[in-house]
Order: sequence, then structure tokens, then C-alpha cells
Amino acid sequence: MIFDTHAHYNDEAFDQDREELLAGMPAAGIGGIVNMGASLRDVEESQQLAADYPFLFAAVGVHPDHVGDLNEERMSHLKNFCAREKTVAVGEIGLDYYWDKENHETQKTWFVRQLQLAKEMDLPVNIHSRDAAQDTFDIMKAEHAGTTGGIIHCFSSSAQMALEYVRLGYYIGVGGVVTFKNARVMKEVVAAAPLERIVTETDCPYLAPAPHRGKRNSSLYLPLVIEAIAQIKGLSAQEVEEVTYENALRVYRLS
Ligand code: NI
Repeated sequence: MIFDTHAHYNDEAFDQDREELLAGMPAAGIGGIVNMGASLRDVEESQQLAADYPFLFAAVGVHPDHVGDLNEERMSHLKNFCAREKTVAVGEIGLDYYWDKENHETQKTWFVRQLQLAKEMDLPVNIHSRDAAQDTFDIMKAEHAGTTGGIIHCFSSSAQMALEYVRLGYYIGVGGVVTFKNARVMKEVVAAAPLERIVTETDCPYLAPAPHRGKRNSSLYLPLVIEAIAQIKGLSAQEVEEVTYENALRVYRLS
């Protein structure tokens, strides 16, 4: 069985065939999916999807691009969603200095607040970090280290940084990027990180693996990611599939 630890199935890219696609997941070997919160609307839509499909779970959180929408009232709204039965994580939260939609201080403030929410609700986190590796790590270490665990999604920093996160108790999310020819750093990260700390993810509809790069992604393409990890580590795809599935159950506390 395969686990997709980070997906966006409420995205409009799935409006034409969402039900058909999701209904077919178990038969395709996809045993679990966690749908992320990015905006406040995503948080609600993730809950609806989680109610509709037994294998689909919800994360509650606001992406750094959208933290300008947060205030205290909305934080307490998020807290209520965290208490729902199918909520398994706080995410995706973090820092994004690439798009830089909100100023860095605003991003940091709400990142810290959402890490505290995860601690308060005893939920693992799903972390988004783009062009902000050192600030993300410093905040994680100061605010959160080892308390609830979680996943560093679409890991794009160095192999050395991946090992630092592993030491703090986190898992490394690996998706379609590992199949790209020019993804040298991602391949180094997969080589360096212990398989017991790697989980698979899509970030669908984005980041489809080769040879589907640029097209709409879905969990159905995860065997390509597993195959790439297996090649880098010199293991069978079957072993990578089994271990990463167990890892996902463990980090999201579903086992
Ligand atoms: Ni995402």
C-alpha cells in the first residue's frame, strides 16, 4: 500500500473527475491520503473530503502565502477543526520567501502560532519551506523540536539539513521532484536520509513526476516516486513502498 502524505484534492484541477478519481484509489493501492489546509477554505473542504472517503484524512492549517487572512477569531476556528476526528495534522504551515506574499515578520508570527496550536492539540505538523531554510529550521528548533513530530514537505534544502530535521524527530517528504533529471539535491537528500524517516507525497495537482512532469499530478503517480527512491537506495520498490507506508501511519498516528 502507498500513502500520499500531502495532497490538495479540493483544488479546482480535480473538479471534472474528483469523485471517480478518489473512488479508484484503494484499487490502485493507495491506502491513505492526507489533504492539506492551505487557505481557510481549504481547511473546510478538506474536512468534507475526509467525511466522504474512509482512507482520506485532513490537515488543518494556513499556508504562509495566506497568513494575512489570519486573526485570533480564525485561529480559534482552526482549533475547533483540529479537534475533529479525521484531523491528523496541522499543515501546511511554514515560510515562503520565494513568492513572498506576506512580509517575513507576519509569516513568522503565524508560523509560530500554528506550531503552538499543534503542540496544544498534540498533532504532528506538515511544514512548507521555500527559500527560507535557515529561518524555518531555527523556528522549528526553538518552538517545536521533537514535541509532536511531523513532515518537512517537498524538502528542498541540503542533505545536511535533512539529517538535522531527522535528528529533531521529523520525517522528510519526498515527491515528484526526485524523478526530475536535474534534481541533484533531492537525490542527495534521499541517499542521506534513513528510509525509516522518508514518506511519500504528491502535492497534487502540482509536481507530477517524470514522465508526466508539468501535467496534473495525482496519488496514482506515486509508484514512480517509489521507484526513484528505490533506485537511489539500491532497494526493491516493494520494500520502499512498505516502509514508507508504515512511516506515514506512524507520523500521522494512524497505526
Ligand atoms: Ni502543498
